[in-house]
Amino acid sequence: MNIAGELEKHAAQELSHALIIAKQIDYLGGMPAVEAKTVRTSEKATEMLQFDLENETETIRNYRERVRQCEELAEYAMSEQIREILIDEQDHQIALATALGKSVQPQHKAA
Ligand SMILES: [Fe+2]
Ligand SMILES: [Fe+2]
Repeated sequence: MNIAGELEKHAAQELSHALIIAKQIDYLGGMPAVEAKTVRTSEKATEMLQFDLENETETIRNYRERVRQCEELAEYAMSEQIREILIDEQDHQIALATALGKSVQPQHKAA
């Protein structure tokens, strides 16, 4: 697996997600936050991948919640945009898990 190439692809997709989300926030009349979360880093490549995997997993959990909120508000177009992002995030999660020799556990609400 070409990990560097895969991460490069993720980075481009993350930028496109940020733009999509910024547009949705603007539509709702808000202002996108510009404070980035602390980036966990490590000398060890596997630890870096593990941190990245944990971030993707948290991101997926958050986007799933946003989809539920959009549906409750009948914001179906926004829900659709977030679902598109979710498809990418799940791909990222699977790619990182695969690079670490792990498998992805489905995260259901009860889990
Ligand atoms: Fe993203
Ligand atoms: Fe991602």
